[in-house]
Amino acid sequence: MDSYEHNLRKEADFWGMMAEERSKGGIPLTMDFQRATRYRVRRSSLGWGDYIQDPWLESLTPFGIARDDFIDFARQAKGKRALDLCCGAGFLSLELARAGKRVDAIDLSRREIAVARSYQAKLRKKPTGSIHWIVADLNTHTFPKNTYDLITAWDGLHHIPHIDRLMAEIHDALKPGGMFLFSERVWGGKQQSFRTRISQGLEMTLNLFLPLAWPYSVRFRAYKSMVKTVFRRYVLRQDVELDIDADLEHHEHDSPFEDTTGKEMLSSIQRHFTIKKMQHFGAFSEEACRSMNLPRFLRVPAILFLSWFDHLFVKTRILDGKIVMGYARKEGPTKA
Ligand SMILES: C[S@@+](CC[C@H](N)C(=O)[O-])C[C@H]1O[C@@H](n2cnc3c(N)ncnc32)[C@H](O)[C@@H]1O
Repeated sequence: MDSYEHNLRKEADFWGMMAEERSKGGIPLTMDFQRATRYRVRRSSLGWGDYIQDPWLESLTPFGIARDDFIDFARQAKGKRALDLCCGAGFLSLELARAGKRVDAIDLSRREIAVARSYQAKLRKKPTGSIHWIVADLNTHTFPKNTYDLITAWDGLHHIPHIDRLMAEIHDALKPGGMFLFSERVWGGKQQSFRTRISQGLEMTLNLFLPLAWPYSVRFRAYKSMVKTVFRRYVLRQDVELDIDADLEHHEHDSPFEDTTGKEMLSSIQRHFTIKKMQHFGAFSEEACRSMNLPRFLRVPAILFLSWFDHLFVKTRILDGKIVMGYARKEGPTKA
């Protein structure tokens, strides 16, 4: 059994390597939202499939539109003090600093923060605010109380096993009336709803047949494993775990902490904050929209069709979305 410290090092290295790979050949959205370029992000050295980053096209999808709104909302939040959790290569910290905020940006991965710092050091137009980078483990880190006006978390909380401790900690770190903005994956773990399982099955089936920039062998292995599990569970009535996308996530390099479930995360947020707004996105088209490998004149309509069609299913609650975006507030005297 791997020790916690060993897994933490693996986690930090994995995200460091991912950031280094992503920043070859273009500017990733994860590093600079405003200056991101269109290019093929090559991750094959990590055993992952490539994806094609196309900021303009992404901004026309339901998730892309919501991401733009999220960033605008964060930039316009009242107050100067901000904390960005799991900041990674720093795109959100950078946007907050560009809006004039004093940002504490925290992440486990020293290598990933190094990628962010070296990119930002070369920016000709410096942000009007500032970023203080912190390398630390959010499972144990403590924050000063009543300090921040805004706390953000983009795609990182599902890597934190001690999520309830962290929520209590950031609740205390926010000023009364302060805002907590999050965008998170809520598909992790084994206790998923029926609609989530249908969405996952649909996604894996689509991924098998669509022309993606992923090696076909990876997609086929994942699909075979899903069909085998469903067959054993529902036809042979065997007691097997229905972890549909377990095999898809099996790469040469991977995050050892993917198991905080959406349910755990959202109920913990609900326990500590008042959630003001929450929206789900992407039941089955997320990977396809990122990785569809077609000439652009076909890629653009295909992705727009797929992403909006998917959104219709999520909006009508026929399927469950993979990602949740929301904002919550610490109760207190400050008004919005
Ligand atoms: C999917 S990445 C998201 C990064 C960034 N927010 C983005 O969207 O580009 C997850 C991030 O969580 C960080 N992380 C994972 N476990 C952590 C921990 N225990 N403490 C702090 N950061 C952690 C990783 O280093 C990684 O940067």
